[in-house]
Amino acid sequence: MPSFPNTHSPSSQNQQSGGKSQQQQQQQQQQQLLAKKRWIAQQRKSLPIASVERRIVDEVRKNDILIVVGETGSGKTTQLPQFLFNAGFCQNGKAIGVTQPRRVAAITVAKRVAEECNVELGQKVGYAIRFDDVTSSSTRIKYMTDGLLLREALLDPLLSRYGVIIVDEAHERTVHTDVLLGILKKVQKARSQSISKEPIKNANIDIDMLNEVNHQRLNTLLSPKACQNTKFLPLKLIIMSASLDAKGFSEYFGGAKAVYVQGRQYPVDILYTYQPEQDYLDATLITIFQIHLEEGPGDILAFLTGQEEIESIEKLIHGRLDKLPDDKRKVMTVPIYSSLPSEQQMNAFKPAPSGFRKVILATNIAETSVTIPGIRYVVDPGLVKARSYNPVTGMESLIIIPTSKAQAQQRSGRAGREGPGKCFRLYPESEFGMLSDSTIPEIKRCNLANVVLQLKALGIDDIIGFDFMEKPSRMTIVKSLEQLFLLGALTDDYKLSDPIGHQMARLPLDPIYSKALILANEFKCLEEMLIVVSMLSVESIFYFPREKMEEARAARKSFSSPDGDHVTLVNVYRASAECLDKSKMVTSKDKTIEKNLKKWCIENFINSRSLRHARDIHSQIQGHVQHMGLSVTSCGDDMLQFRRCLTAAFFLNAAMKQPDGTYRALASGQTVQIHPSSMLFRSKPECIVFNELVRTNHNYVRNLTRIDPLWLPELAPQYYASS
Ligand code: CDP
Ligand code: MG
Repeated sequence: MPSFPNTHSPSSQNQQSGGKSQQQQQQQQQQQLLAKKRWIAQQRKSLPIASVERRIVDEVRKNDILIVVGETGSGKTTQLPQFLFNAGFCQNGKAIGVTQPRRVAAITVAKRVAEECNVELGQKVGYAIRFDDVTSSSTRIKYMTDGLLLREALLDPLLSRYGVIIVDEAHERTVHTDVLLGILKKVQKARSQSISKEPIKNANIDIDMLNEVNHQRLNTLLSPKACQNTKFLPLKLIIMSASLDAKGFSEYFGGAKAVYVQGRQYPVDILYTYQPEQDYLDATLITIFQIHLEEGPGDILAFLTGQEEIESIEKLIHGRLDKLPDDKRKVMTVPIYSSLPSEQQMNAFKPAPSGFRKVILATNIAETSVTIPGIRYVVDPGLVKARSYNPVTGMESLIIIPTSKAQAQQRSGRAGREGPGKCFRLYPESEFGMLSDSTIPEIKRCNLANVVLQLKALGIDDIIGFDFMEKPSRMTIVKSLEQLFLLGALTDDYKLSDPIGHQMARLPLDPIYSKALILANEFKCLEEMLIVVSMLSVESIFYFPREKMEEARAARKSFSSPDGDHVTLVNVYRASAECLDKSKMVTSKDKTIEKNLKKWCIENFINSRSLRHARDIHSQIQGHVQHMGLSVTSCGDDMLQFRRCLTAAFFLNAAMKQPDGTYRALASGQTVQIHPSSMLFRSKPECIVFNELVRTNHNYVRNLTRIDPLWLPELAPQYYASS
């Protein structure tokens, strides 16, 4: 692993330079900067993609659509946009947009590329993700999530500010990627039809044109007649994938050309267990320690399924380390998962202090999206958390399932980036043979209400006829249309309703949450609903360390409401806001305020990372709803009003208690149980609304509020009146 001066924090540099004159320090810093530049240039040159720069640029010039396939770490994400920039693809004032399925990849890669270009992040190179835009008018290489580019298409249907769009990590086949591919195909066609014979003089013309077409919808724009008046450059599309099979993408884009980048991969020893593991978390822990104590130097990457698992393993590792002799304790753990606030995600990329071994605890985010240097050992329990949708019941849930072979191979590949490595698969070799070859695209296993709403907002009315790379089932689409109709987003003839459908499409949230906010405006409890929606947008607000279970329970009780989990979340948020207000009265130092909040979180067993993230989301959505003209008022102590609003919003997720203490979900007829983490686990009210279905050995529902069953026909007559 290269140990480079840049990787030390500024404070450690200061310590190192203690006692030196200011001039000497400046000189040293300059030397470090120079060395860093040289090192980066050398690293870039040594990437496999560097040798095919000319060829790639030529191919992009010749082809409007190009598929680039290359193993993780070959330099696709960081280098290709720079090649195109240097080759003059942005000279017309247009930007290169690069989409990522995950926020963390967009951020880390943008930071890396800004560093490589020696520019400030947000200037020439920037990123934009939901709730965080670090770009400016001078941004030419813009990394963003695929979902965000879809949203941009709502405001700018021809994506006119981009000359090149790169859909990265396309092999992941997230639902956003799949929808985006269909949209980009249309946009590209529309733009090539709209090329005027007149040369484009400057970028401003496009902006004028954009205003002209801003409110037109994509379908209209597709007609050649409508395009005659507009002047746009053709759009170059690049689809990048780490899976070696480019056939599917190539066929979808009418036989588009594919370029293969040779990867650089060292051999990786794959080790299997003899028996299936009963407890994969325990097996993960044991394997991590086995590597740490018996194997040579090198960092460890362990794949887990989510935040809760990662946090509990992290605690267990530290618990065990405390029992080891001093010289064996040099382990640094770093978590990385999608919902982790970005500054903390960055920790995974920092090298461990000298003599320490880094253990990265990651979700499948580390499979291909991000490249973390220094890894020699991979621990792979072979599981992943995935969305699963049942179109018959209309219920979506998160389940833990075995990875595909392709995923297992990607994971083991992470160990052989910089030298030979080892991958410990925590299942027997015979099980590997039984895994499916590749992962089923997400679009085939999720609720499509969000997608349908977005497509409708883009003016695409015929959802079933939309050119998806892989069509979701007709039943799933029909179910989503029905759900949107019931939420009031669509009219009788399945057009986007005005204003509700348009408002819902504008909010970057699940349709059901968007509707909840709009309703809360009418019910005069938007302040409470904003809190609930923000808190539900993050994972696990409460924190339950195994060794302090009782204390944690007592702490949670102090916030608990007999009405259920939603009001409890409001109580937590308000208590944290009170703590912040108090701190602000005595100090104006952000650091101290932050520290006080963290202390409060520890005392109250609240997950400070999650809370911080929720506060962030809160301020962003608040901006959106205020912009829409909704008024953020509170219902005060009138929780009845708030519960009625929750009922009106979440009526599709209502459940009635049955004589045996289980519940029947009214929309699906499924038998469900209250999750033990719910405030209502013991009191078991007669009727509830819930937000989430978790399938483990039971169908559990989480995040509930107790309601009066009579409110259902009153507040959701469109659904319950006739029953
Ligand atoms: O996209 P692909 O997986 O082909 O590679 P990449 O993300 O462009 O990464 C190329 C190289 O850049 C990696 O092997 C890392 O050495 C380096 N890199 C880094 O050091 N820090 C990052 N945040 C991203 C990349
Ligand atoms: Mg990449």
